[in-house]
Amino acid sequence: MNKPAVICLDGPSGVGKGTICLLVARNLGWHILDSGSLYRLTALKVSRENVMPDEECIAMLAKSLAVEYREDGGNLEIYLDNEEVNQLIRSEEVGVLASKVAAMPAVREALLARQRAFLRSPGLVADGRDMGTVVFPDASLKIYLTATPGERANRRYKQLKEKGIDVNLANLTEDLQHRDQRDMNRASAPLKPADDAIIVDTTQYNIDEVYSIVMKWVQKRIVTVT
Ligand code: C5P
Repeated sequence: MNKPAVICLDGPSGVGKGTICLLVARNLGWHILDSGSLYRLTALKVSRENVMPDEECIAMLAKSLAVEYREDGGNLEIYLDNEEVNQLIRSEEVGVLASKVAAMPAVREALLARQRAFLRSPGLVADGRDMGTVVFPDASLKIYLTATPGERANRRYKQLKEKGIDVNLANLTEDLQHRDQRDMNRASAPLKPADDAIIVDTTQYNIDEVYSIVMKWVQKRIVTVT
């Protein structure tokens, strides 16, 4: 039996992958994998449990996370230990810790099967850093979204403000640069486009324009596959 199709949306922090992923999944009626949330949930759990800063301990914790994703009318609600944590995991503090645990190969390995288990019929839209390179190397469509660091910091700033999360643009810009460096330079699954990814520089585009570029590729590649 054929496996359901996957669309991978990879790229650096603040580029708008999450929003595009939701819009595409909603349009197609497909499932969503917000892979960054798994690293964020691991980070939240680490900060709450006061675990040893030891890679194997954190990997064990990642493997045993009690997480539930509820797709509600195209929105994604995330529960950790039965507590709704959507807002909590979006803080910059959790994001920075997430990028530190994400640099640990044993943690990435611990989360691999969990990510692949999201692949269900009729299809999956997966958002992350290594969706096209590691998690779903055979995906039907791989898109790598980029934008300048300044533009990404502005987007993230607006997004967090809209969610009522208190942020400072200068701190955000600095965090984003550190996160980029860590994500791109780590030995295990570094942030980079897959060889067969379509690269879209979104600096000059608004969200509707990016969405329409992505949907053109979806129509070209996926409509013929499904
Ligand atoms: O995408 P998001 O900002 O929620 O991801 C949080 C962190 O998790 C990233 O900075 C990155 O270090 C890590 N991550 C990753 N691989 C993924 C998704 C996220 O390493 N597929």
